[in-house]
Amino acid sequence: MIVGAQWGDEGKGKVTDLLAERSDLVIRFQGGNNAGHTIVRDDEEYRFHLIPSGILYPGLACAIGNGVVIDPRVLLEEIEGLKRRDIDVSGLHVSANAHVIMPYRVLLDQAGETRLGKLRIGTTRRGIGPCYEDKAARLGIRVQDLLDEKILRKKIMAALEPKRPALRPHAKDPAIDLHTMTEEYVTYGHRLEPHISDTALLCWETLRAGRNVLFEGAQGTLLDIDHGTYPFVTSSNPVAGAACVGAGVGPKQIDEVYGVAKAYATRVGEGPFPTELNDETGHHMLERGHEYGTTTGRKRRCGWLDLVALRYAARVNGLTGLVITKLDVLSGLDRLRVCTSYRHAEGAVFDDFPYHQSILHNSEAVYEELPGFTEDIGECRTPSDLPAAALDYVEFIAKAIGVPVTLIGTGPGRDQVIWMNESGTSRAAA
Ligand code: IMP
Repeated sequence: MIVGAQWGDEGKGKVTDLLAERSDLVIRFQGGNNAGHTIVRDDEEYRFHLIPSGILYPGLACAIGNGVVIDPRVLLEEIEGLKRRDIDVSGLHVSANAHVIMPYRVLLDQAGETRLGKLRIGTTRRGIGPCYEDKAARLGIRVQDLLDEKILRKKIMAALEPKRPALRPHAKDPAIDLHTMTEEYVTYGHRLEPHISDTALLCWETLRAGRNVLFEGAQGTLLDIDHGTYPFVTSSNPVAGAACVGAGVGPKQIDEVYGVAKAYATRVGEGPFPTELNDETGHHMLERGHEYGTTTGRKRRCGWLDLVALRYAARVNGLTGLVITKLDVLSGLDRLRVCTSYRHAEGAVFDDFPYHQSILHNSEAVYEELPGFTEDIGECRTPSDLPAAALDYVEFIAKAIGVPVTLIGTGPGRDQVIWMNESGTSRAAA
């Protein structure tokens, strides 16, 4: 399993892509088209928001699990885009139980953010939150509902009823007219029908046959609705435990959980970020790391690596391996700082991630300083190729977190990685 160990955008896409090659099924288990990553294959660029990038491997099964929320327009665009480039999409499976993002949910996401004003969350405005709200309220529309016009119409009516006051400013918007919506979404259902299936059963059958399933997490631990910096979070659970629910497997089926973290930290949207830098170093990270959102194009906030938050992510996910991405971005910085604890305004020091939001908001990062490196590490392929300071930095992190580093990213290219040790390479590079 691959999960984000920070605030999302850790570079999970590339890691998934590398591990997908050795997998028999790749399945997403939460989130929706708030996620996004770009894969370069044979000089061609592919952008994905919903479909696991594993689809680029001929014959590999890819699934969108029941825990994902799906905007069918976005999904169909991705399918059509792949077909146009002669990519076989017959291996794509879409859970019949996944929930559908309807147009009124996108409108409500936008309206909610506007209403919150200064208190806004900074969502991707893709309707993710309102879709999970309806799921919990049992007013959701599921993929299977798109296959039956009568049922779909009834469910849309039921879902719209309590939203009438909030949707009043959009009452004349044809996109949310009951008749138009029903017709449009039934059409999507028919187009998706060849892909709709029982993805939990597919997982079970794959595992029972002794094959490998790769669970692809979206967003990151600190954006988790239970374990993240609530309310500045997404509306799903990006942590490892959620894969069991969002894909439909038992916890004992999971052998390995890799947490992906950048060698520094970034965050998009609002919310606490104790190591944030608003200076030249932050700018170095922004520009060298091309820290602009794949989905919304927003500038990401940048800062030093936060080991308090990373230790927390290791704990709540039960990480068995750590992947450190974008180490190359730190090249050229004289000194590297890592946050080892938080100091509250009243003096208390926290080694563990504080559960109380006010503490987090009123704390500052306490740093340890390590030597930096200036060498270009883009050509390094083994740990011993790395400059001593870069390797020391990685080892410092592993020791502080108590989780072995499995893989390091040294550049954007697919081959710009270093596998760290036997246990890391045993399955992935065997
Ligand atoms: P939502 O998921 O669109 O509701 O947005 C909630 C919060 O999660 C906002 O701070 C978003 O910026 C953040 N977010 C959602 N998806 C991603 C992602 O894939 N990467 C990074 N941040 C994300």
